[in-house]
Amino acid sequence: MKVCTTKVETRSVLSSFRKAGQTIGLVPTMGYLHEGHMALVRAATAECDRVVVSIFVNPTQFGPKEDLASYPRDTDRDLELLHAAGVDAVFMPSPEEMYHVDNQTIVDTVGLSKVLIGKLRPGHFRGVATVVCKLLNITQPDRAFFGKKDYQQLRVIKTMVRDLDIPVRIIGVSTIREADGLAMSSRNVRLTPADRKAAAVLSKSLNFADQIAGSGITSRQLEREVRDMIDAEPRANVQSVDVRDAESLGPVRGRITTPVVVLLAVRFGDVLLIDQRVISPEKGQR
Ligand code: PAF
Repeated sequence: MKVCTTKVETRSVLSSFRKAGQTIGLVPTMGYLHEGHMALVRAATAECDRVVVSIFVNPTQFGPKEDLASYPRDTDRDLELLHAAGVDAVFMPSPEEMYHVDNQTIVDTVGLSKVLIGKLRPGHFRGVATVVCKLLNITQPDRAFFGKKDYQQLRVIKTMVRDLDIPVRIIGVSTIREADGLAMSSRNVRLTPADRKAAAVLSKSLNFADQIAGSGITSRQLEREVRDMIDAEPRANVQSVDVRDAESLGPVRGRITTPVVVLLAVRFGDVLLIDQRVISPEKGQR
């Protein structure tokens, strides 16, 4: 496994794969890898000849009061896991390598980046779109793999790739969950034991939403039912519960008759957890 810290080195390793006619899959990460990331790596390995993983805690997607400094990091363990998984190359730049000192360019999906999580975390999706655009330019993969847990992020990236004609296929990979249903996230380690236990309410509320969404309920009623269920957990501090069109993320009016996504953002202590479920009223969950 080739570990590269510069763009030049990464481009040279990947261009040798390309010259040999091999397809390249990119898995962008911020490190502190868990089973959810490894599922992305497995999907990339299954679909591409060569796999490159980036590890970069991207400062531009964190707000001034967010958890950039305390974001968990363990590079040695990450590299061991990726080596054992048969990854071909890792791109691990410093912030100085990634961003020019006089960096002036940003990428912003102007509508999508300002709604839902974008309202709670102003500037977050601009930072994500910009760094993912850069990672795609640096690695020029055939496919890039992202978790469906970060549903709005996936929509932002797909929209950016469409709008900027970036020649890559973006693949969404299903969420991997702990035994009690909690979606795997690098932030879970920052939960206190009591909050970790309480956080199971997120997936429980999504299961409940799945059961009642097809019963002629409106999107507003569904939001209220889910919010009430999470509010009943005293350790949960609900930031937002939204039922949106699964494709456009636009508002859904009246009864639910087409696929919707239920999006949750809930704080436990100072840890913000998100989760989601796409629900098709006729066919059940997707
Ligand atoms: O989902 C993440 O880990 C990050 O937002 C990403 C896509 C690697 C960009 O920094």
